[in-house]
Amino acid sequence: MRILGIETSCDETAAAIVEDGVRLLANVVASQTEIHARYGGIVPELASRQHVRQIGPTAEAAVEGAGGGWDAVSAVAVTHGPGLAGSLIVGVNAAKGLAASLGVPLVGVNHLEGHIYASWVHAGDGGALPAPAPEFPLMCLVVSGGHTDLIQMRGHCSYRRVGRTRDDAAGEAFDKTARVLGLGFPGGPAIQRAAVGAPRTDPLPRAWLADTDDFSFSGLKTALLRRAREEGVYPPPPGGADPVRVSALARAFQEAAVDVIAAKTIAAAERHGCRGILVGGGVAASQHLREELERRTAMPLTFPPTGLSTDNGAMIAACAFYRLRAGDRAGWDLDVLPGLRLG
Ligand code: KG4
Ligand code: ZN
Repeated sequence: MRILGIETSCDETAAAIVEDGVRLLANVVASQTEIHARYGGIVPELASRQHVRQIGPTAEAAVEGAGGGWDAVSAVAVTHGPGLAGSLIVGVNAAKGLAASLGVPLVGVNHLEGHIYASWVHAGDGGALPAPAPEFPLMCLVVSGGHTDLIQMRGHCSYRRVGRTRDDAAGEAFDKTARVLGLGFPGGPAIQRAAVGAPRTDPLPRAWLADTDDFSFSGLKTALLRRAREEGVYPPPPGGADPVRVSALARAFQEAAVDVIAAKTIAAAERHGCRGILVGGGVAASQHLREELERRTAMPLTFPPTGLSTDNGAMIAACAFYRLRAGDRAGWDLDVLPGLRLG
């Protein structure tokens, strides 16, 4: 069963071929980072136009990379939400056209569920999973530029959301903070680099929201902005901000955000009787988050293979394998659902 997975929910035009839900045969991501970097964030109109340009060549490159041609494709899967409406529409229509012309099933995939299934994709060409397959029930932390959700996964395709951010997503806070510190976009990797070897400074506040599994990051973002102003980092003075102060604030921000994410995820996993923790979404690439989770819990931890944390088509194809197995198949009226949630 070879599934072509298409992902255009945000700013990456991505397509991949995954065999039997696990073997990655080809993975192509046409990134728009450079286009949006200039604006310090994603410009939806530019994103959808770029998807229109890239979707054809990207899908073709994935099929070519996997070998076997279009005839070997047994289903087409596509993200239909959540995400930017104009971006989702491009992927969904391309997927409909391909599935119809190939005469194969169409599967609509929830982007958040895709982030979870990135961890079932074997790294490399048919190699083993980086860790044994996770056991249910799992506490899934889906943490990206648009979401920070804690979702209990009771089995394949079975979810219950137990917590979410009440304001900004964690990745969004990383991106906004990087902008204030003049570190560029996307913010997560830039803050991670700046924090390496940075001096310690006064800690930033943590929003614990006791007695709930919800998160809040807007207070941290505001506190960082205030400190950046007080320390003459923002707005940047003529000649630029002091790089030592910038890196110290990047470290303090990363420590505060990760402290809360790690502690609350572990607490939720324990409270809801989970046997392991799975992390998915762009922020799963955070080295500091991984280290803190490893340091604080003995529970089995699952992270996506390198390169599959941020948006890609492989996670959509992997998820679609389990969806199809459960009898899920989309009609030709499959629509985009920009506000779709999971669990
Ligand atoms: O999943 P993704 O590619 O797109 C969304 O669905 O949002 O996630 C992108 C987000 C960005 O906010 C980016 O700053 C964040 O993931 N990110 C990181 C790291 N790498 C990417 N955040 C923290 N640390 C990182 N190393
Ligand atoms: Zn994503």
